[in-house]
Amino acid sequence: MVKVLRLNLRKFIDDSYEILIGFRLLDNIPSDLKENPLGDRYAIITDSTLKNIYGNRLLNKFYEEGLSACLIDFPAGEESKSLNTVSYLASNLLRSGINRKSAIIALGGGVVGDLAGFTAAIFMRGIPYVQVPTTLTAQVDSSIGGKTGVDTAEGKNLLGAFYQPRRVYIDPALLKTLPRREFISGLAEVVKYGIIYDGNLFKYLEENVDRILGLDEEVLLNIIERSCNIKRTIVEEDPCEVNKRAILNYGHTPGHALERLSGYKILHGEAVSVGMRISGWVAVRMGFWSIDEWERQNKLLKRFGLPLKMEFDIDEMIEAMYYDKKAEGETLMFVLPKRIGEMASINGKYKIPVPEEKLRIFLRELAD
Ligand code: NAD
Ligand code: GLY
Repeated sequence: MVKVLRLNLRKFIDDSYEILIGFRLLDNIPSDLKENPLGDRYAIITDSTLKNIYGNRLLNKFYEEGLSACLIDFPAGEESKSLNTVSYLASNLLRSGINRKSAIIALGGGVVGDLAGFTAAIFMRGIPYVQVPTTLTAQVDSSIGGKTGVDTAEGKNLLGAFYQPRRVYIDPALLKTLPRREFISGLAEVVKYGIIYDGNLFKYLEENVDRILGLDEEVLLNIIERSCNIKRTIVEEDPCEVNKRAILNYGHTPGHALERLSGYKILHGEAVSVGMRISGWVAVRMGFWSIDEWERQNKLLKRFGLPLKMEFDIDEMIEAMYYDKKAEGETLMFVLPKRIGEMASINGKYKIPVPEEKLRIFLRELAD
């Protein structure tokens, strides 16, 4: 006889949070946390480069406010986005007196945000964390939406958790010290938003290339706010990527594969830029998108100085793409544009299967 006990666990969770965007916000974070506390001790997690640029400065502001805080850093770069670093961070948090009543401040780019967020998700089964993004990629994308995690030898972001930050502070002034190549890499994600959701944003980008590349404050604020608003809207609709959120991964299926094949020598946004040319071509060849709009996308990426092509072996590329989280068993899934500002769907589903034989042909066409 089988005895059945039912453990009733229906949940209502309010994961809402505010995204604050403003020039020169960094120094005011501790005073804001004093007014709206998230913990009784704060651990700033950052990388080795940012520690000296903004980390110690932020730590001193915590002290000035009389808040208890510490700073932990790890070597900058994608190679650090591993379980080893999570383990290193957890040990240092414990040694620094961080406990269940404390909170983490993720100060950095996507690598810091993904790592610190994942560490927050599992540290003592979860403590609050705040995102303070310092790269364009992080300010328009990775700091919002609660995707946290690490890479494995097999591929990108394969271990992780959805764990939302409790607040996001975006200070575009921090971009002034960002290396040029990193800034341009972040523009790939902004172009992505134009393609997947907002044709007017795409047009605005086309009209403001020089001002964007010149770090014009008004234009920067505008593109960051519009990007965050698009991401916010999509995440609100589909927080755990059951369907629509997958459109945020436009260009990422080939992009993540290229990152891995390059040994993470190319930057995330550079890989996404090449990936958007590839995914866009798949959309054209499968009859979803017009070649004119595909060319318009590529022209804008090029004007921003983003790469459109990279050398790769087609077999290796396809094998790497099977590690994409969108892949369903033996089937590669892509998200594909229908027009600039709107993604294609089949029966309401945005992830579209692309047969491997066809993909091989499309990749060969692009290599010619
Ligand atoms: P990154 O975090 O590696 O930062 C790039 C480099 O710039 C680092 O060396 C860093 O020290 C330096 N840097 C950062 N900010 C600086 C500043 N203001 N001034 C001077 N130097 C600065 O790179 P990234 O492009 O921000 O993030 C890429 C990562 O983000 C990838 O791992 C990607 O998978 C992840 N990502 C995650 C999401 C998500 O939703 N969670 C979305 C997009 C990307
Ligand atoms: N960067 C993709 C997402 O957050 O879903």
